[in-house]
Amino acid sequence: MPEKVTVSLIKADVGSIAGHSRPHPRMMEVASEMLGKAVRDGLLNDYYVTRCGDDMQLLMTHRKGENNREVHELAWNAFMAAANEAKKMHLYAAGQDLLSDAFSGNVRGQGPGAAEMEFEERPTEPMLVFMADKCGPSAYSLPISKIFMDPFTTTGLVIDPRAHLGYDIEIVDVVDHKKVLMSSPAELYDILALLGDTTRYAVKRVIHRSVGIAAVVSTEKLNILAGKYVGKDDPVMLVRCQSGLPAVGEVLQPFAFPQLVAGWMRGSHYGAWYPCAVDQSDPTYHDGPPRVCSLGIQITNGKIQGCEAPGSKPGDHKPIDYFAGREWDIVRNKAMEISIYMRGHGPFMPGIVSPEELEYTTRPDILKKLEPRMQPL
Ligand code: 13P
Ligand code: 13P
Ligand code: MG
Ligand code: MG
Repeated sequence: MPEKVTVSLIKADVGSIAGHSRPHPRMMEVASEMLGKAVRDGLLNDYYVTRCGDDMQLLMTHRKGENNREVHELAWNAFMAAANEAKKMHLYAAGQDLLSDAFSGNVRGQGPGAAEMEFEERPTEPMLVFMADKCGPSAYSLPISKIFMDPFTTTGLVIDPRAHLGYDIEIVDVVDHKKVLMSSPAELYDILALLGDTTRYAVKRVIHRSVGIAAVVSTEKLNILAGKYVGKDDPVMLVRCQSGLPAVGEVLQPFAFPQLVAGWMRGSHYGAWYPCAVDQSDPTYHDGPPRVCSLGIQITNGKIQGCEAPGSKPGDHKPIDYFAGREWDIVRNKAMEISIYMRGHGPFMPGIVSPEELEYTTRPDILKKLEPRMQPL
């Protein structure tokens, strides 16, 4: 049996410049230095440090499996080191997503989000890395439904005999911490009945019946973990592509729809997400609009391969920045138009999220104050 590879994408917002914009390059540098040392020490095979808006992403490959204590501790320590740099510079919200002072075995439940998959590497292993800012984990449910369940999006589901088998979809209830494995297309309508409620359900994993894991999403709900508002979840997703799985183009296609996602500005507004290059992911309008970035890489002998020369230094990668191109301008323009329209609602729903979803609210105090004046109708 060939040795399996694990791809771990672990993310956190540990501070940014002038509001919730982007981490300082020094923060990325200290994280890179620590992951570089982990390659030299033999824990990691390879890594790449990147960001989307104010969220730092650690993309790592290794042979240790999912939820590995050493790998999670490394990610935690890298975020702590980056947060310390942010604190030294008095950056905004330094350490925002680090909810405890000490590491306790796994980053899950401690603030950072994680999407990890272990698999046997195919002869060629194209992968897309998605990163979003100013939204929650259910933001990926609509594109995932289209990519893996809609034959009008993914023609491969119809014409590729290997894709024809369908997929198993693991859905989590992010509020009550439950999960269920459902089968597509057999249970398609039941699946959509759950996923349509984006306040509660999100896709965690998509599994191909012969190839195995196809996609994984970070589904940690930050405000539920913290018990109060500390920032948004800003989820990441890994998707394996081609050869029986959806083609790269089929995976990207649903992002041409600027869907409304919850979590923009104080985690409390609906905005149309805006596909863009990593360099363009600073939230420049009303702390948004919500951004989504997509990086294309190959997994090659357990390492990351982008446009850099084969065998170049670990960490030194040049992925394909899929949303950088002008083809996406039309989507971005539409996303801005919709987001400006949504802002027209001010503090009224559906411009803002429902009362249960609001990250913080003054309503209990107001109601208390008004209690003596409240009259029966
Ligand atoms: P190639 O024939 O170039 O491999 O492309 C197949 C494909 O997946 C295009 O969507
Ligand atoms: P982040 O969750 O990206 O830190 O943003 C918080 C926010 O809502 C800014 O308005
Ligand atoms: Mg932030
Ligand atoms: Mg963020």
